[in-house]
Amino acid sequence: MFPEALRKFFPGSGTNRAAEPFGVQRLGEEDPLFREQVKAFRAKLEYRAEALGQKVIAVTSAISGEGKTLLTGKLAMGLASSGRKKVLLIGLDLRKADLAQTLEIAPLPGLTEYLAGSAKLDEIIRTTVMPGLHVIPPGIQLSNPTDLLTGTRFREFLAASREKFDFVILDTPPLLPVADTLLLRDQIDAFLLIYRANWTPHDLFRQAIEELGESQILGVVLNGIEQQKQRYYDKYYGSYYRNTHIASAGTP
Ligand SMILES: Nc1ncnc2c1ncn2[C@@H]1O[C@H](COP(=O)(O)OP(=O)(O)OP(=O)(O)O)[C@@H](O)[C@H]1O
Ligand SMILES: [Mg+2]
Repeated sequence: MFPEALRKFFPGSGTNRAAEPFGVQRLGEEDPLFREQVKAFRAKLEYRAEALGQKVIAVTSAISGEGKTLLTGKLAMGLASSGRKKVLLIGLDLRKADLAQTLEIAPLPGLTEYLAGSAKLDEIIRTTVMPGLHVIPPGIQLSNPTDLLTGTRFREFLAASREKFDFVILDTPPLLPVADTLLLRDQIDAFLLIYRANWTPHDLFRQAIEELGESQILGVVLNGIEQQKQRYYDKYYGSYYRNTHIASAGTP
């Protein structure tokens, strides 16, 4: 059943049948379809964010395991791939610290160490094979990072990052179980909300939209839409947006 809360992001929808997640191997770089869809989704986001003057963008979702870290990595790589944009990807999920593992980069030192004062900024920024892409991993896993994230040092760090980069993309913890992401909302320009098909309970997705407030949602990404069931979306959004879709949240 198509969740009620998604309808406003996909006007005209409502007849969609439950989609099943495709296999994780379909997410591999070597899959041309996946590459295509990430490219399209990145282009759409870039256009919207620039039109609205939004550069600090948090990728989030209601619950754990919806694909935030994976898609944040792909998005940041996509934004930097043209070579024209300077992109900083920050692992803000200090509780799970999964970004370094997903991107296969050295996990330490990271943001936690910088915020705690035990590492300098140039020690935590990783350069990548893409000249425009820099990554800051979360660092050591913490059970309660609230004080670090709400402190002056983080605020100043994010403000400085905003000045130096065209896009600052944040991989965040899930919205509903922990307050970390919402506590930072005044420093974030926009949210990209992920909904994973056959994974996210509808009522929790709806609750996440309410918590964020629609005006701050740049778009919703549908993750895990089975290919055969995409004709429905294609009818409205064209055949470019397969498997992972980004839909407008009422913004231009
Ligand atoms: N559409 C999909 N189909 C199959 N596997 C997926 C899909 N999207 C993500 N995954 C896999 O699901 C797992 C969780 O993804 P990921 O770590 O990106 O989620 P997350 O939202 O960051 O989770 P958490 O909130 O716990 O950090 C990973 O192993 C990822 O490769
Ligand atoms: Mg994650």
